[in-house]
Amino acid sequence: MSRRNALRLGGLGTAAIAAGGAGLWWTGSSRFSTVAGGDFTDPKQLRSSNGRLQVRLEASAGSVQLGGQQASALGYNGGIPGPTLRLRSGDVFAVELVNSMDVPTNLHVHGLHVSPQGNGDNVFNVVEPGHSFRYEYRLPADHPPGVYWYHPHHHGMVADQIFAGLFGAIIVEDAQPVDVSRERVMVVSDITLDGSGTVAGPSPMDRMLGREGELVLVNGQSNPKLSARPGERERWRIVNTCVARYLQLRLDGQQMQLLGMDSGRFPTPRNADEVLLAPGNRADVLVTAVEGDATLSAVYYNRGSMAGMTGPAGPAPNGAQGTGDLVLATLSVSGAPAEPPPAVPARPAAADLRTAAVAARRQLTFAVGGMGMGMGMGMSFTINGREFNASRTDTTVAAQTVEEWTLMNPSPMDHPFHLHVWPMQIIEEQSQAPGQPVWRDVINIPANGQVRVRIHFKDFTGRSVYHCHILDHEDQGMMGVIEVR
Ligand code: C2O
Ligand code: CU
Ligand code: CU
Repeated sequence: MSRRNALRLGGLGTAAIAAGGAGLWWTGSSRFSTVAGGDFTDPKQLRSSNGRLQVRLEASAGSVQLGGQQASALGYNGGIPGPTLRLRSGDVFAVELVNSMDVPTNLHVHGLHVSPQGNGDNVFNVVEPGHSFRYEYRLPADHPPGVYWYHPHHHGMVADQIFAGLFGAIIVEDAQPVDVSRERVMVVSDITLDGSGTVAGPSPMDRMLGREGELVLVNGQSNPKLSARPGERERWRIVNTCVARYLQLRLDGQQMQLLGMDSGRFPTPRNADEVLLAPGNRADVLVTAVEGDATLSAVYYNRGSMAGMTGPAGPAPNGAQGTGDLVLATLSVSGAPAEPPPAVPARPAAADLRTAAVAARRQLTFAVGGMGMGMGMGMSFTINGREFNASRTDTTVAAQTVEEWTLMNPSPMDHPFHLHVWPMQIIEEQSQAPGQPVWRDVINIPANGQVRVRIHFKDFTGRSVYHCHILDHEDQGMMGVIEVR
């Protein structure tokens, strides 16, 4: 019998009483028990009006509600996740970030196409404990609609702060609304808590492979319940905020259609049985409800490992066995059938750089070195042989040009590559060229694989970064500085 099984059985008596029969999961070694099956709740929303949104985000440590229990973690404005920020293209969006923690932090608006300079999306800025900073972002009038998110980006502490609860969703609304019965924001995160509800630190192996929390939550809830009537169409905005966990999502028995991923919206929705979200990716999904019960689950995805290591493929959390499915949420569909929803308005075709003139070609190689020196000892995480150095500029690009980058991964584990400010079009992935334009801001580079992308460095100049979105890798150096001028 596995240790996790022993814990589950051992704890069931008292726990079942505490949970009032609602059902309960024990998580691996953490012994933190959560109450599963509560009603799904959307994060609090703040919406822009008259072209402006002004918010105050206070990052602090304290007692937060997680999986139906109290835990000691981090949160924006006291909750996990932070509020959902709803914007429109052309908006000015100001955030007063208040750092009430005892460590430095800062703020990044992941995926937004905004200036990286000054008090814009500038990750070189540091907000010291007890200080605050006023960020201001101006979304271009043609900013793509879609799902984005915010999180800290202070180098060396990014994984710790996100793992402990600092993240929230940003939605850029459609110019022409999509008719749905309801919209839900689903911020997926993972965390490991010890028996007293305190966030666990990473082991050397967690740091090397990227930590995966034993508890996987949606809006801080464990397996929340959603209900709908047959024929209703829902729109789910799903964000993978996990530090290192990939989410291969399925909703068997229901009809899922993908409106887009990251900022890349498709002209028309595409049917999808499975949606893979690497850390940092988002999906914009339509679900047309079919009578019956269904689970939103994450099925096992093999992201590789290091030689001689047991990979992140160990026992899955939330009660799943081994590489079994992880249940994120449960959808129950019953009642009187709803009227069929009207057609989704078509979007203009996405930009296509496949025939663009390429001003420069570059190669970026992602390497993990130092094996044989002992696990976690002397490991290096590099891009083109170098670890991150904030005062060095690795890549200088001429503004307004199109470049082609070949992303090479000779290591035995996947690295999800992320570039700030400018989205990337996938030109070739594992020797396959996509039939239509595919745009992402996080692109998985498979173990021992490569991906070719094109980027149009339009609209903004300034210094920013690209990095692996397995945030333990980023914190250990797998990040580079780009300057567009
Ligand atoms: Cu989601 Cu550089 O970050
Ligand atoms: Cu980002
Ligand atoms: Cu990586």
